[in-house]
Amino acid sequence: MWSPSLSSFSLLLAALQPAAAIWPAPQSLTKGDSVLYLHQNIEITYDGESIPYTYGYEPRKLTSKEVVQAGISRTLAGIFGNSIVPWKLHKPGSKFEPDLSKGQQWLKTLKIVQKAKDKPSTFKPLAGEVDESYNLTVSADGHAKLTALSSIGVLRGLETFSQLFYQHSAGTFWYTPFAPVSVQDSPRFPHRGILLDTARNFMPLPDVLRTIDAMAWSKLNRLHIHVTDSQSWPIVIPSMPELSEKGAYHPSQTYSPEDIERIQTYGVERGVEVYFEIDMPGHIGVVSLSHPELIVAYNLQPYQWWCQEPPCGAFKLNNTAVDAFLDKLFDDLLPRLAPHAAYFHTGGDELNRNDSMLDEGIRSNATEVLQPLLQKFIDTQHARVRAAGLTPITWEEIPLEWNVTMAKDTVVQAWLGGDSVKTLTSKGYKVIDSNYNFWYLDCGRGQWLTWANGEGFTQGYPFNDWCGPTKSWALVYQHDPTAGLTSEEAERVLGGEVALWAETIDPINFDTLAWPRASAAGEALWSGRIDPDTGRNRSQVEAAPRLNEFRERLVARGVRASPIQMTFCTQGKAEECQFIVA
Ligand SMILES: *[C@@H]1O[C@H](CO)[C@@H](O)[C@H](O)[C@H]1NC(C)=O
Ligand SMILES: *[C@@H]1O[C@H](CO)[C@@H](O)[C@H](O)[C@H]1NC(C)=O
Ligand SMILES: *[C@@H]1O[C@H](CO)[C@@H](O)[C@H](O)[C@H]1NC(C)=O
Ligand SMILES: *[C@@H]1O[C@H](CO)[C@@H](O)[C@H](O)[C@H]1NC(C)=O
Ligand SMILES: *[C@@H]1O[C@H](CO)[C@@H](O)[C@H](O)[C@H]1NC(C)=O
Ligand SMILES: *[C@@H]1O[C@H](CO)[C@@H](O)[C@H](O)[C@H]1NC(C)=O
Repeated sequence: MWSPSLSSFSLLLAALQPAAAIWPAPQSLTKGDSVLYLHQNIEITYDGESIPYTYGYEPRKLTSKEVVQAGISRTLAGIFGNSIVPWKLHKPGSKFEPDLSKGQQWLKTLKIVQKAKDKPSTFKPLAGEVDESYNLTVSADGHAKLTALSSIGVLRGLETFSQLFYQHSAGTFWYTPFAPVSVQDSPRFPHRGILLDTARNFMPLPDVLRTIDAMAWSKLNRLHIHVTDSQSWPIVIPSMPELSEKGAYHPSQTYSPEDIERIQTYGVERGVEVYFEIDMPGHIGVVSLSHPELIVAYNLQPYQWWCQEPPCGAFKLNNTAVDAFLDKLFDDLLPRLAPHAAYFHTGGDELNRNDSMLDEGIRSNATEVLQPLLQKFIDTQHARVRAAGLTPITWEEIPLEWNVTMAKDTVVQAWLGGDSVKTLTSKGYKVIDSNYNFWYLDCGRGQWLTWANGEGFTQGYPFNDWCGPTKSWALVYQHDPTAGLTSEEAERVLGGEVALWAETIDPINFDTLAWPRASAAGEALWSGRIDPDTGRNRSQVEAAPRLNEFRERLVARGVRASPIQMTFCTQGKAEECQFIVA
């Protein structure tokens, strides 16, 4: 006779209970099974001061109180306006809702206490400068308490609070079935991000703002905007209007300085730091449209000799006019970015050494010629970034392929996988992991280049892209950026970013590709793989029902997130949808 071991028995029980489906999983969570109803007149205080719920409250300035007040407004508006009736998460025909005729125990108070003062860096932190931890308790008799050390921690706790609630199908009741609740929570990594590419296809302002909202719900806190590339220049630089006039796809496909400021402050108000990348010295061909004298190898074929994808183009590495151009560009741009970000990314991926063969000031592709020029280029640009009060970030090729040395506070973004993260951290660099084998969400959907009939067609068949297969939520979820590192190396890993390179992504399909897979990375980066309660890796069997629920919340809040399973599985049938090893 089969007798369940204690652990498989308790796993089974866990699967049958209604999940308190907080995503990402808090470090610790206990819950009960009492019902509490939420009312718009709930008494809310922040550090003793009454903050009644006001719909649509926007911060008037960036102060702790304004940020928290707006956070409260969004949280309650989200619960009352965009909650789910969770029929998709329970067995068909089951009675999962509280009986309204039994009367209502109301949640009477929400007391928010911020135990430390915010610093100016709270709103533009370097990794580790803001404490995002929070504790949340909800007593069965209707009193909630949220404590945190920063206003950003308060926002994280409010998001968890909102995920406790459902709408009743009667329409005008909102409840949590989980009281009493006790949560203690803090992130594993300080840098948890998304890379948005606005150069291959443009992302209009409202889509960027919606992305920031969905990030905050997933407790992601860094939006890296790869704003220019060889294909287009959407960012308006007032002192150099020719860049976007000639380089944007269309005048409608641009970000004005006001748009940039709006994106950044929208992020700050949600605990999402928005920082920008101008990729150079490769990936900058578009500058050729307005400043042809600065660029080599623009729009050459066969492009493979000059770059990774058309239309190529790199800065001339031994040209004082390039330096003057960057001086002017950075003088205009960086002082506008610095008030709301701690970082600026100077790119540096995929520089093809052949490009300098065409540079009349160099005419060489030899390492011993190019390396010193690149070192000087990076030194000069990073000095400008630092002078503006920002910390530079580069792609991994700059230190690893080109042996450029940089100050150790420089952050290096790794993407090539293999030993990159280990090599970089062992050299003392701080690292953001974007390993393409796990966290490139654009991969595996086919090639966008076309092949003519004949030899090319035969070579290209079956028209895959370079980084397939598609990275499923489960693959994204299990990636640990510190795997195989010593503890000293692991400490230098700031976190990671999932990337959505946009050759075949625009606002029409962005949400379905980003969500909820970016949320899966969000949990890997917030909670880590190890469940503190069991000391074991969180399993897909445990995670899927929670991610299914979070996906329903994303959809209810206006994000077109993909389903990760069919409704058959989401309806309380996690076990039936589990792979059983024969
Ligand atoms: C949360 O509770 C734990 C345990 O009591 C305590 O150590 C920690 O300081 C609390 N954190 C916050 C942000 O209140
Ligand atoms: C440089 O160009 C030559 C052809 O002139 C080509 O064979 C080689 O692969 C190119 N190198 C790179 C790194 O693309
Ligand atoms: C860079 O340009 C300077 C001035 O034109 C020239 O003297 C120098 O040889 C060039 N360096 C290389 C590596 O070609
Ligand atoms: C450098 O250029 C030469 C001449 O075009 C070419 O044969 C060689 O492949 C290039 N080297 C690299 C590493 O691309
Ligand atoms: C960088 O250093 C490594 C190891 O010292 C060496 O193998 C490589 O050729 C160097 N690359 C450049 C571009 O100098
Ligand atoms: C978690 O899974 C990884 C493989 O993905 C494994 O290396 C590690 O040992 C596991 N950790 C625990 C505590 O089981």
